[in-house]
Amino acid sequence: MNYKIKDIKLAERGVDRIEWAGRNMPVLKMLRERYSETKPLEGTRISACLHVTTETANLMILLKSTGAEVALCASNPLSTQDDTAAALVKKYDIPVFAWHGATRDEYYDHILSSLEVKPNITMDDGADLVSTIHKQKRELLKNIIGGSEETTTGVIRLKSMAKDGALMYPMIAVNDSMTKHFFDNRYGTGQSTLDGILRATNFLIAGSVFTVAGYGWCGKGIAKRADGMGANVIVCEVDPVKALEARMDGFRVMPIAEAAKESDIIVTATGDINVVSESAIGNAKDGIIIANSGHFNVEINVDYLEKNSDSKRIIREQITEYDIFKKKVFLLAEGRLVNLSAAEGHPAMVMDMSFANQFYAAKYLLEKGKTLKRDVYVLPEDIDRTVAADKLETLGIKTDKLTEEQKRYLSSWEIGT
Ligand code: ADE
Repeated sequence: MNYKIKDIKLAERGVDRIEWAGRNMPVLKMLRERYSETKPLEGTRISACLHVTTETANLMILLKSTGAEVALCASNPLSTQDDTAAALVKKYDIPVFAWHGATRDEYYDHILSSLEVKPNITMDDGADLVSTIHKQKRELLKNIIGGSEETTTGVIRLKSMAKDGALMYPMIAVNDSMTKHFFDNRYGTGQSTLDGILRATNFLIAGSVFTVAGYGWCGKGIAKRADGMGANVIVCEVDPVKALEARMDGFRVMPIAEAAKESDIIVTATGDINVVSESAIGNAKDGIIIANSGHFNVEINVDYLEKNSDSKRIIREQITEYDIFKKKVFLLAEGRLVNLSAAEGHPAMVMDMSFANQFYAAKYLLEKGKTLKRDVYVLPEDIDRTVAADKLETLGIKTDKLTEEQKRYLSSWEIGT
């Protein structure tokens, strides 16, 4: 088997850690039990470009046990867990092309290697597989039924490809399933971003001024956790509805250039470019900590920091200190997504639902892919509700059901007061 990883000797530790994550992924376990006899993915070749974590490993094991042949590469050079990669290769016979700290060239070489299986389905977190295939490997298009996309940023990229008529196969926006973004983006990003900041800095959140740029599901999750830990939270938003929501959730709202003057910490979660801009850096309080929780490392203007600093040094693992305009600015994880670079990403308990949706996306593409256009689709609502119901069952939670009388009431317009 062909693979490119850091060190196969790390496998043993990886196997234990994958098992640990698996304990909190009961829906994936349920799907393994439900489908490993019938193998609905039999004969399917899947290239997956996802964060190489213990949670992703459990998805790869599910895909393989339900019949797929998979090859995995990383969706970010800093998020790869080398022991997980080694365990997947050694214990589970799954080819992995990823190591922690890959250079840009190595990163793209790994993507190309993962495409050597000639996929029928692509699985992305940030759309790098889709874009590599469309730009450089168009000969693979003839084999491809469809693909799935994990994250908000990737979905935005795909929608703009579809709008331009450039997208050559149907894509499932897994991110847009309710059982993905309501949970993963909010509770997952909320907790793992704070986890990344704390592991990198050991900074006291209580009493700090903590600014969150972006009040989508991720920003909401981060603000809520920071608030819960006693921070004084400021939200920066461009959308007036979200800005109003932040205000009524109890947060101060202001432009980022203003917020920077008093912030101890700024975190971005917008999916857009140059959010911590020249003016925010120019106004920044001495000693400010800046981190990004968006998918790509474009939200903080690192270039501006680099070009205008008198000096810089690594003051602690994951923290670069910039001496700029006679003050210190501390950048975490080089401006890459802090929750996966300085911590381990979202906890298994939420990835369980996100990755159940990834499994269903592959199954759905096999069943329905040929009827779909070259566009971006959301999984049908009944699949979403199945994931939620399965999760509730694994948590031992029972809920009320509508009575016949209640169903009749909801479907009639004649019954009034
Ligand atoms: N995205 C965010 N957290 C993740 C995790 N733990 N594994 C894979 N992808 C992720």
